[in-house]
Amino acid sequence: MISLQHVSKQYDTKKHSIKAVDDVSLTVDDCDIFGIIGFSGAGKSTLVRLINGLESVSEGKVIVDGNDITTLKKKDLLNERKKIAMIFQHFNLLWSRTVAENIEFPLEIANVPKAKRKERVKELIRLVSLEGHEDYYPAQLSGGQKQRVGIARALANEPKLLLCDEATSALDPKTTDDILDLLVKINKELGLTIVIITHEMHVVSKICHHVAVMEDGKIVEEGSVVDVFRNPQQPITKQFIGDEQETVPLDDLLETLSDELSTGYVIRLHYTGASVLESRLTNTSKELDIPISILQAKMNITQAGSVGSMVVHAACTPEQLEQLKKKFDVPSINLEVIANVE
Ligand SMILES: Nc1ncnc2c1ncn2[C@@H]1O[C@H](COP(=O)(O)OP(=O)(O)OP(=O)(O)O)[C@@H](O)[C@H]1O
Ligand SMILES: [Mg+2]
Repeated sequence: MISLQHVSKQYDTKKHSIKAVDDVSLTVDDCDIFGIIGFSGAGKSTLVRLINGLESVSEGKVIVDGNDITTLKKKDLLNERKKIAMIFQHFNLLWSRTVAENIEFPLEIANVPKAKRKERVKELIRLVSLEGHEDYYPAQLSGGQKQRVGIARALANEPKLLLCDEATSALDPKTTDDILDLLVKINKELGLTIVIITHEMHVVSKICHHVAVMEDGKIVEEGSVVDVFRNPQQPITKQFIGDEQETVPLDDLLETLSDELSTGYVIRLHYTGASVLESRLTNTSKELDIPISILQAKMNITQAGSVGSMVVHAACTPEQLEQLKKKFDVPSINLEVIANVE
């Protein structure tokens, strides 16, 4: 659906020039839910505006649904953009129009006849579960309901691609989950490709199939959500997953426990499939006669099953550690020794 090839975007202001997007290459498959995660200023929104042609690239190609939108003429670009919808953090609704009129708006612009418009609005209201709220004004709706209107309006002209820029950042956790469930439903029922920009790993773990991590305009890590969660490579990725997985920062935990822990090793285990890890922990502890205690554990349910990390203390010798590593040398588990307690 999307192929970005060595895409860069430079902003030149009087004082300095900024490379907001720096040599990004990326492929998003049809029907995928693809997350792009990064801290503020990483270049995420710029990247999204390049995908929908709202900004022009400084370098590279942006291919959406087979068309290189960097070389399209204005009229063709406008046509192409109809296939690409977008939702935003602050909903961008028209405040003087009702729910139904907001959803109808893009259909009016596309010159859809009135009877057809009304019918389509009804369908969309049903799709986003806003029946009974047709005549409400945006000011009378909760944040979650406003975003449902935003989603229905985005889907009005049957786009192939939905771009979501921090679409749940203004919502509380429960409402965020409801909106994410709605996006999964739309992805499945309509076969819509969805790209989600976020700074929350929870959003990625809950609904995305693939993820790219962005830092200083570059994609520094990319892969299936399960692989990236199980075996994060870059410090920034570990930080994002750590934010999600560790309730107490590890340094604080080790400091607090330093008096209580006997000699041995502190080990982090990233895993997919909680039962595999648990049975291996119990068996290894018994077979090698190593006391193993769990210091911290966190699990996420992703679209592809459970993924988590566990920090354990193994009271063992260096020789036993090598034996222990062999026991955990399976594809679904990634072991990392993070401290040596002496
Ligand atoms: N129109 C512009 N002119 C000049 N600089 C810009 C422009 N738009 C963005 N930038 C700069 O590009 C960089 C990336 O901005 P961008 O908005 O893409 O980041 P972001 O990852 O979306 O951040 P956030 O999470 O805060 O939304 C920033 O340093 C920003 O100041
Ligand atoms: Mg942004």
